[in-house]
Amino acid sequence: MSQLNKFKRYTITSALPYANGPLHIGHLAGAYLPADIFVRYLRLKKQDVVYICGSDEHGAAITIKAKKENTTPQAIIDKYHAQIKQSFAEFGISFDIYHRTSSPIHHDLSKEFFLNLYEKGEFVEKYSEQYFDEDFQQFLADRYIIGTCPNCSNPNAYGDQCENCGTSLNPTDLINPVSTLSGKPPVLKPTKHWYLPLDKYQPWLEKWIDEKEGEWKVNVFGQCKSWLKSGLQPRSMTRDLDWGIDVPLEEAKGKKLYVWMDAPIGYISATKQWAEDHNKDWKLYWKKQEKEEDNTCLIHFIGKDNIVFHCIIFPAILRAHGEYVLPQNVPANEFLNLEGDKLSTSRNHAVWLHEYLEEFPGKQDELRYVLTSILPETSDSEFTWKDYQARVNNELVAILGNFVNRVMILMHKFFDGKIESPSGKVVLNEPAIDYELGRLYEDLEQNIEAFRFRQALQTVMDMARLGNKYLTEKEPWKTIKTNPEDARETLHNCLVLIGKLAACMQPFLPSTAQKTLDMVNWQGGAIGLEQEISFKSGHQLNPAALLFEKVEDETIAEQIAKLESKKQTAAPALQLPAAKENINYESFATMDIRIGTILAAEKVAKTKKLLKLTIDTGLDKRTVVSGIAEHYEPEAIIGKRVSILANLEPREIKGIVSQGMILMAEDSAGKLTFVSPNDDLHNGSVVR
Ligand code: MF3
Ligand code: ZN
Repeated sequence: MSQLNKFKRYTITSALPYANGPLHIGHLAGAYLPADIFVRYLRLKKQDVVYICGSDEHGAAITIKAKKENTTPQAIIDKYHAQIKQSFAEFGISFDIYHRTSSPIHHDLSKEFFLNLYEKGEFVEKYSEQYFDEDFQQFLADRYIIGTCPNCSNPNAYGDQCENCGTSLNPTDLINPVSTLSGKPPVLKPTKHWYLPLDKYQPWLEKWIDEKEGEWKVNVFGQCKSWLKSGLQPRSMTRDLDWGIDVPLEEAKGKKLYVWMDAPIGYISATKQWAEDHNKDWKLYWKKQEKEEDNTCLIHFIGKDNIVFHCIIFPAILRAHGEYVLPQNVPANEFLNLEGDKLSTSRNHAVWLHEYLEEFPGKQDELRYVLTSILPETSDSEFTWKDYQARVNNELVAILGNFVNRVMILMHKFFDGKIESPSGKVVLNEPAIDYELGRLYEDLEQNIEAFRFRQALQTVMDMARLGNKYLTEKEPWKTIKTNPEDARETLHNCLVLIGKLAACMQPFLPSTAQKTLDMVNWQGGAIGLEQEISFKSGHQLNPAALLFEKVEDETIAEQIAKLESKKQTAAPALQLPAAKENINYESFATMDIRIGTILAAEKVAKTKKLLKLTIDTGLDKRTVVSGIAEHYEPEAIIGKRVSILANLEPREIKGIVSQGMILMAEDSAGKLTFVSPNDDLHNGSVVR
């Protein structure tokens, strides 16, 4: 049974993409396709729903890209806003509005939110020391500082995160930090900011999240619990940046709102704009109503990297404000991988939506289908071109397309494509099929409402399988000779089934659904999910057309080759650290670098990146923990000659005391190799 009527209306959002680059299939599978399926379903169920998205146009993501492309942030957001909007439209992602956070209505609302919290005394004002670039006379966003990761020694860790070992960092955690603006070490300077006291909100957040147990997806609930368990810290809602929304306080001149404060408010400002354009009341879609049962149901579709912002920080802001509803659910997806590897923008390892649209014109539903079949709903999943081909050929072509096509061809061959019945009307006249369809339809409802879109799509395919089985059993191509009325009835039943199938396909494969309805010359207007399907006697079908084409081996081979070639020509993935300042020989000579041999290697439990190595340094045999597990299998490196910084202060990593550091060279694609001697030197030989 559908549970939808519990709510008066629905406010559905998909994460606002940063307008700093094109989108790939991972984005689509993460936060847009699932939301679109859900929204299309709600609309078919005649719910009052608004579906919101737009560009996230602030934050360091934008300014860094502008710097890289040697242009202005404004040029970047204008370019990518248009491109992303276009890609979404072509894939049929049916937003009611695709807005932008650079719009005045958004700036105003964000300031209003900030002031509302400020006037209530919600913020904690604090001075802290932050990195400042003296040459450029500005404070540095976390992403503008790189240095060595204290956890894995990756020399290119960012001030907010090390992309090698995944640790989230503060800029001051970095060893030897360097400003990417001037290439020089930044200095610490005090600056004042306004913090959201998440620690103070922790008790009610805990209570609120606990109520979601069993209702929210396990991966989402689990991540929230783990954030809460490690204890929430106050988070600054203002930044020293020159791109973003001005902090609306006299004493904060030059400061901007933290991008994660303003971006989610973008959902609300977009709704305001939509309401203005369509003569609606935006408050119904966001604010608490007098009676609780009149509240909207707010659902955020996002990828897993956005969970903390949507399940902890934004709800805290909404609640601190007080007039807003909190999200009912946040069905975040995990990540999609591609051909055995993480999707990566910087390494250009991706299937870009704008490229797919060019190379596979008119085949949007094929990609929608394949991605829906493999959505990373409960764990990471993987897209491969072979699997794409197999699903299109063996499922869309062989099951769905084949059923519709066989029925159409036979109707034209035997009855000139005309439906005729003495009763004047054709309805489903096969109780067993009717029963099965009813059961499948219920599954469909249940699965969609529980955000199990993969499973829901299977029920639609099961309807097509049901049709194929029925057709094969009834063999109208044989009975046409012995009992033509039976053949006619069989095909009529199949046509009704096709109508039902088209109705149920709509959320997933909108343009295929439309093509199918056009083929049967459907005259009933928009087709509802629960509508009884019937045709009038005398109804003329349109010519049969193929719904899907087979994907050829060459097509797939080309795509795989393209990914491979991109890998080799990919632009340097890592921003190479700027040259460091000169040092004198004495400073260099303080480092005791030796040649050693790896005697033993094993993975460090519960980590992905770390190996525990035993090294013969010539001086002693010692343990070193090294972040190379993703590059080398332990058994492959035993006996390897290495260079080791032997007098690095011992440090405890994951409970193991690491004595020294293995020197690794890193290429522009992030590949690590050992710095080994060319000739056979004895252990303990000095490198200088
Ligand atoms: N731009 C963010 C990202 O791509 C998502 C923002 S979602 C919103 O990770 F809540 F801020 F809108
Ligand atoms: Zn690291």
